[in-house]
Formats: sequence, structure tokens, C-alpha cells
Amino acid sequence: MGFPENVHRNPTVESDTIIAVIDSGIWPESESFNDKVLSVSCFNFSKLIGARFYGVYYDFDSARDTEGHGTHTASTAAGNIVRDASFYGIAKGTARGAVPSSRIAAYKVCSESGCSSADILAAFDDAIADGVDLITISMGGSSAAALQNDPISIGSFHASQKGILVIQSAGNEGYRGTVGSIAPWIFTIAASTTDREIVTKVALGNGSILTGKSVNSFKLKGTTFPLVYGKNASSPGQCYEGWQKRCQDNCLQKDMVKGKIVLCDSFGGRKEALRAGALGSIGLEGDNSDVSFVVALPASALTKDDYSVFQNYVNSTKAPKVDILPSESIKNHDAPRVASFSSRGPNSIIPDILKPDVTAPGVDILAAFSPKVSPSKVPSDKRSAKYSILSGTSMSCPHVAGAAAYIKSLHPNWSPSAIKSALMTTAWRTNVENNQDAEFAYGSGHIDPVKAADPGLVYETLQEDYIKMLCGLRSDTSTLRKIFGVNVNCSEGFKINHKALNYPSMTISFGSFESNQTKPFAEKLTRTVTNVGRANSTYKAKTSIISDYNINVNPSILTFGELNEKKTFEVTVSGKITGKMISAALEWSDGVHNVRSPIVIYQRYD
Ligand SMILES: *[C@@H]1O[C@H](CO)[C@@H](O)[C@H](O)[C@H]1NC(C)=O
Ligand SMILES: *[C@@H]1O[C@H](CO)[C@@H](O)[C@H](O)[C@H]1NC(C)=O
Ligand SMILES: *[C@@H]1O[C@H](CO)[C@@H](O)[C@H](O)[C@H]1NC(C)=O
Ligand SMILES: *[C@@H]1O[C@H](CO)[C@@H](O)[C@H](O)[C@H]1NC(C)=O
Ligand SMILES: *[C@@H]1O[C@H](CO)[C@@H](O)[C@H](O)[C@H]1NC(C)=O
Ligand SMILES: *[C@@H]1O[C@H](CO)[C@@H](O)[C@H](O)[C@H]1NC(C)=O
Repeated sequence: MGFPENVHRNPTVESDTIIAVIDSGIWPESESFNDKVLSVSCFNFSKLIGARFYGVYYDFDSARDTEGHGTHTASTAAGNIVRDASFYGIAKGTARGAVPSSRIAAYKVCSESGCSSADILAAFDDAIADGVDLITISMGGSSAAALQNDPISIGSFHASQKGILVIQSAGNEGYRGTVGSIAPWIFTIAASTTDREIVTKVALGNGSILTGKSVNSFKLKGTTFPLVYGKNASSPGQCYEGWQKRCQDNCLQKDMVKGKIVLCDSFGGRKEALRAGALGSIGLEGDNSDVSFVVALPASALTKDDYSVFQNYVNSTKAPKVDILPSESIKNHDAPRVASFSSRGPNSIIPDILKPDVTAPGVDILAAFSPKVSPSKVPSDKRSAKYSILSGTSMSCPHVAGAAAYIKSLHPNWSPSAIKSALMTTAWRTNVENNQDAEFAYGSGHIDPVKAADPGLVYETLQEDYIKMLCGLRSDTSTLRKIFGVNVNCSEGFKINHKALNYPSMTISFGSFESNQTKPFAEKLTRTVTNVGRANSTYKAKTSIISDYNINVNPSILTFGELNEKKTFEVTVSGKITGKMISAALEWSDGVHNVRSPIVIYQRYD
């Protein structure tokens, strides 16, 4: 993230900051939460200051993490500095949270069977009452739900009313329009790669070496092993040919794979290879080819091209032999790139609020883990790991929670929306596999916590505006009172369109009816910025130049004479409706600060 260990900090406030982690519990004995590390200070410091568990449907008997997930996310946000952390020597280095001296309060609402809405809401209520500063929640639906039906939207609305910023994962569905976290008071996080990639090499008997992906801690005893294709190792009557090739469940014959490495047309076949007692497995990568999964036996996923080289070798060799090497870390020069699995916008419920908001590291992340949990989640894998490697927007979410806690430690009086704005307007556009996704994949971009500490200007959203927006979204008075706990009456002209929300990104969407019209259009957005940079400063607007569109900012120069002064401006977008998604931007600059807002214009499916 560009956030070095020696970054400027405010230690007193940082250690007074509490991050609530609503997740699968926590492993308190982990070195990442060890009090000894911090008790060098004279007061009695506790890293983990509280842990609660819930169980409306599931019978938890403690807040102990039986998944590894909650321990991983908590240590990413605020874990201690732990030297020489690794997963069996892989990805070795210093593990530390973004704010290593902040405190953690853990709320266990999930088990392997899932997370209940009642437990999530209870955890939000408790976290608010416990006086936490931020809440990180790495969970959510696989698609967006109406705000009044989503426990995380509701719980985080209550939190935002108490000045608590909630950071939530965008989801792991990968496709357009699947982002599950859509409320404007939530900070929604996509996932991207880091410059450290974990690879597993495969050595062919003829001397060639292919580089595949997995997290493989096993070293085979020997140098080459016989290879058998899944199809050849299956009993003919048992499975269809396609299943045999992919090594699907119960297809492989034990005596045919013993002492051999099995080649499968699907990397998922490694589970069947393990069941049948094979030495290892080589497979064709699946959809998430940018992720290295922890495997329970020596295994490597190959790209399509490498897999066909492999098949060539196998077909042209009498007794094919192969070795699978332990994983190693290599430099990924292509990073950061938004992960294939990271859920994308547009926002299916509030179309003119861009989601996700930003992206952060979420691929192959090493962090603390539950030693009682199998790191590959395969029951027969009896390894125990204090640190493990996981991928998901669950992993990127606590990176941003930690960065937000860092900003809050430097600016204790900033509102949740100001902290969020600082991280959004200083984010930078990054790579994404399908360039069409652009802002729908990364929102405002990849976070830069050091720049966000001094953003110059912030877009603050008033709590009242969220309520007016809810009225504008046709929430009725009784829903607002019962669900959101606010005593207002929507019928009193108390509503705004969500476009009018003072959001740090700008989105204009058209329905397909509107975009069938060839007539020109003009749409105006009003925004207000607050000066948090230098008292006397002058900002000039710069916008992208896009064919078919004209973006006009009025006024285009903002002059501030004091801190916390607010200035309002209008952005008018005019041109032809083309139906294509347009990525543009507005950047305010005083020569020192660049305050960037993406402007996205797109056609809805409705
Ligand atoms: C620190 O807290 C622990 C646990 O409450 C207590 O046993 C210990 O005496 C305290 N130490 C100091 C120096 O206050
Ligand atoms: C699979 O079986 C075919 C036909 O019996 C044989 O030619 C081939 O070498 C075998 N390949 C592997 C990898 O077992
Ligand atoms: C190699 O053999 C497999 C089956 O054994 C077949 O599916 C594949 O097309 C062959 N590949 C090449 C490149 O000949
Ligand atoms: C090994 O076999 C593969 C597949 O036939 C081939 O592409 C590669 O060049 C061979 N390597 C060497 C060193 O001969
Ligand atoms: C909201 O205001 C309208 C008009 O002032 C009034 O008729 C209605 O009873 C109010 N609703 C509630 C729930 O207070
Ligand atoms: C800002 O400018 C005004 C007017 O020129 C001046 O009175 C004031 O002292 C300046 N403030 C700072 C912090 O430089």
C-alpha cells in the first residue's frame, strides 16, 4: 500500500483507537495480539480489549475463532509487529497491522455454518455501546439487498450516526453488478493483487520447468515421480469421461494413483487426488487464476498454455515423470490489479452512488490464523499454522480499516465521511483484467494511506442527507423510525435524490429508455468541499477530456481563507448519450494536494 513501518504516527491517539472486528471470533494467543510486545510502555496495555460471541442459531460457547477468518482480518487491521512470520517458510517477512498499537474488540457472529442477521445486528449494537472507533466487517450478501432488509446496512447506519465509520468487503462474486455492499454510509472495499506473488513450479522429466499457482508447503521425497492422467486412472464404469479427465469426486482408483502425480483438467481435482491417495496433483487453473490457494497435498494450477505444453509432454513421452516443488514468492510486476473474484459495480440499488469505493490488497495475504483450523480447510490436512495465506475482499477490507484508523489517529475530530473522502480522493486508478470494468472494479482506485493523511479537501456527507436520501428512495416514515431509528417524517418535503448526496465520487446513470433517445442531455451535480489543508489556498479544477461529452465545473477556482471553510460548486456533464460506460474525473489541485473524484457515466439495465 506504500505504508512503511516508519511512517509518521500519533502513538498516543493510535493506542487509544479501538477497531471492532465483526467476524468469526479471534485466536487471542496469537503473537499478533500478544500483550508482551507492547507492554514496554509504562501503562498496562491490552491489544485485545474485548471479545463477545453471539448465537441465535449456532451454539458457540466462546469467542474463540474456529475458522481462522476473524483472526486473519483482525491482525491485518491492527496486529502487532511480528518478525519472521510465514506459512511454513512461504511469504516470510514481518507481519503487522496497519495500526499496530491500536486495540481490537472482537465480535464473533459467524461459524462454518454461516452468520445470522440477528447476531450481526446485536454485534453492531454492542460495538456502538462499547465505544469503538471503527468497525470492520468482512462479510455480506452475494448480491445487494434493499437497505432496510440488509442487517449490515442497518447496523452501519446506526454506527455512522454515532460517528463510527464502517468498512465492509465488496464481495467475491467477480461479475458486473454483483457488489453486495451499497449503502453510501459504508466504506466498500474491492480486492487487488500485491507485488508479491506465490508460485509453485513443476519440473518435467525432460528438464523443462513450468510455473503454476498454489500455496504448497510440501517437499516430495525424491526428484521425479510417475505421472498419470485422471482419465487413465479412473475405473471406466464409474464416471463419465469428462468427469474422469477432471478427477471429479470418487472417479480415481486408489491402486492406479498410488505413488503417482495425477494430471486433472480441473484444479479442483486435487481434492479427489488426495482422497484416492495420490502423491500430488497438477491441474488446469479455474476462474480465479490470480489466486494461490493453500493445498493439502503437493499441487499446482497451470495456465491453459502451460497445461497444453504439459499434455504435449505427456502424450509424447513413454513414461512421463514430474516433480512439484515447494512454493516460492516472486515479484509481481503487474500489481496492483483488481482480483478476478472482486465483486463489481454498478450499484444495483442506488445506481448513482459508485460502489465499490476503493480497492486494497486482498490476494495471497499472509496474516494470523487459528492453529486449530486446517489451513486448507480439508479435514484430513492436520497441519497447524499460526499464519496463513488467504484471498478475498475479506482480506482487503481490514487493510482499509487499518488505514482509516491511521487517518483517524492523525485527525481525531474528523467525521466518518471525511476519513472516507480522504482515502477516496487520494486513491489512484489501477489495473483491471477487463478494462471495461474500470471504476466498477476499483471505485476511486487503490488507497494511498500516506497521501490520505493530508488530502487538502474533503467531501463531507451530513447524517441528515443520508436520511433525506432514504426518504428519496421511497423509504416510508415508519421504516425509517423502526429500522433506522430516526424520528423524521418523509412526507414533509424531507427528501433528496441520491445524486444530490455530497459523495466523493460522481456517477450519472441512464435508464435504457433514456439512452435510446439521441437527444443531447445535461446533468448537474452539486458538491461541497471542506478545506482541511492549508488555511490560505486556491484550488483549480481539472477535468478529463472525453469525446461526445463536455464536463464543466463552476466555479472552476476555489479560494479558501481559513481551515474548515466550505465551498460549493457545480459539475455539469453534457453531451450525447452513447450507452457506453464513460470513465472521467474531476481533480482539484492547489499545487500540493490533488483531490480526485472519478466521474462515471453509464447505462443501467432497467
Ligand atoms: C496488568 O493487568 C493484569 C490483568 O488485569 C494484572 O494482573 C496486572 O497486575 C496488571 N499489571 C500492572 C503493572 O498493572
Ligand atoms: C493414458 O492412456 C493412454 C492410452 O491407454 C496412453 O497412451 C497414455 O500414455 C496414458 N497417459 C498417461 C499420462 O497416463
Ligand atoms: C494429449 O492427450 C490427451 C488425452 O490423453 C488429449 O485430450 C489431448 O488433446 C492431447 N494433447 C495433445 C496436444 O496432443
Ligand atoms: C519438454 O517437453 C515439452 C512438451 O513436449 C516441450 O515443449 C519442451 O520443449 C521439452 N523440454 C525440453 C528441455 O526438451
Ligand atoms: C407526517 O406528516 C404528515 C403531514 O404533515 C402527517 O399527515 C402524517 O401524519 C405524519 N406522519 C407521521 C407518521 O407522523
Ligand atoms: C490568510 O490570508 C489572510 C488575508 O491575506 C491573512 O490575514 C491571514 O493571516 C492568512 N492566514 C494564514 C494562516 O496564513
